[in-house]
Amino acid sequence: MFSALRTVSRSRGFASHSAVQGFNGAVGNTPLIYLKGISEKTGSKIYGKAEFQNPGGSVKDRAALGLVRNAEAKGLIKPGGTVVEGTAGNTGIGLAHVCRAKGYKCVIYMPSTQSQEKIDLLRMLGADVRPVPAVAFENPQNYNHQAREYAESLENAIWTNQFDNVANADAHYTSTGPEIWEQTQGQIDGFICSTGTGGTLAGIGKYLKEKSGGKTQIWLADPPGSVLTSYVESEGKLVERSGSSITEGIGQGRITDNLETFVKELSGAFTVPDNKSISMLYELLDTEGLYLGASSALNVVAAVELAERLGRGSTVVTILCDGAYRYQSRLFSRKWLVSKGLEEAIPEHLKKYIVLE
Ligand SMILES: Cc1ncc(COP(=O)(O)O)c(C=O)c1O
Repeated sequence: MFSALRTVSRSRGFASHSAVQGFNGAVGNTPLIYLKGISEKTGSKIYGKAEFQNPGGSVKDRAALGLVRNAEAKGLIKPGGTVVEGTAGNTGIGLAHVCRAKGYKCVIYMPSTQSQEKIDLLRMLGADVRPVPAVAFENPQNYNHQAREYAESLENAIWTNQFDNVANADAHYTSTGPEIWEQTQGQIDGFICSTGTGGTLAGIGKYLKEKSGGKTQIWLADPPGSVLTSYVESEGKLVERSGSSITEGIGQGRITDNLETFVKELSGAFTVPDNKSISMLYELLDTEGLYLGASSALNVVAAVELAERLGRGSTVVTILCDGAYRYQSRLFSRKWLVSKGLEEAIPEHLKKYIVLE
């Protein structure tokens, strides 16, 4: 299935796109991939939106562009200004690209627990990266508060505030949601994904629910250590955060303003344990040829489970957030897998992909 913006090149059988304007013009219009092996194995139709094909390599390119465009439209930033954000990685990467393409400076505060690959990439993209101790949101030293304070101390600067600025969810409401609707021709029983800021889930969820007249069910998938499943199941009780996950960029201890715009309309939520996510990560590589990060693998596990709940043969869409490149030194290292107690979660026939010591 191809969107209306695409034509099929008859000569060589490859999809071709018309030219776009720079990095920013290349964000979005990603393919919707039918996960054939996984669908056939489970008797459902599972699709993954290939957000790793955005020019900055992740779903967060859309949020980054949406946040900056929104600030420009409101006159909050002028040429030569500075964009400041607190981010665990992918939003920073998207913002660093967008800032280069638009001529802004980019300053990124991040918890020092994030992977070295992400920190290095941000620096290569010209961002001023400031790793700070990983402390809870309630602590004034949290990376988000430090980002806000720094932006406030500068002239012609914005704090993009990805967690609570709903321009993030709007970017998905106006782009990702309509693309999925068009690519599935409205034949979509369920949509599910995990959340960090909640922008992807809230924006896509709102669009699909409206467009389907409430027929498409929207569910939230959670990693261990996040409070969102219990929040949804208890209809609004926030519990203390406990536990952790190998996934990066997802899981939450609170209801962000982006998630708040949609949380009451969710049909449900459930938690996916790390052993299922890591096993799916290897299976996606083996059966689909897709080299994806752990949040994408978690999303596919959740999509299969949701399809089972909705009934045999149902169609479920999820998000393939980013590639494994940014995490490969961990995800394909035997030592790291053993340290997380996850080596045994990988089926024997897939262990050949554990190529790093
Ligand atoms: C790898 C990855 N997956 C998923 C997400 C979640 O997206 P959202 O912030 O829109 O909830 C993020 C967010 O940073 C991410 O980096």
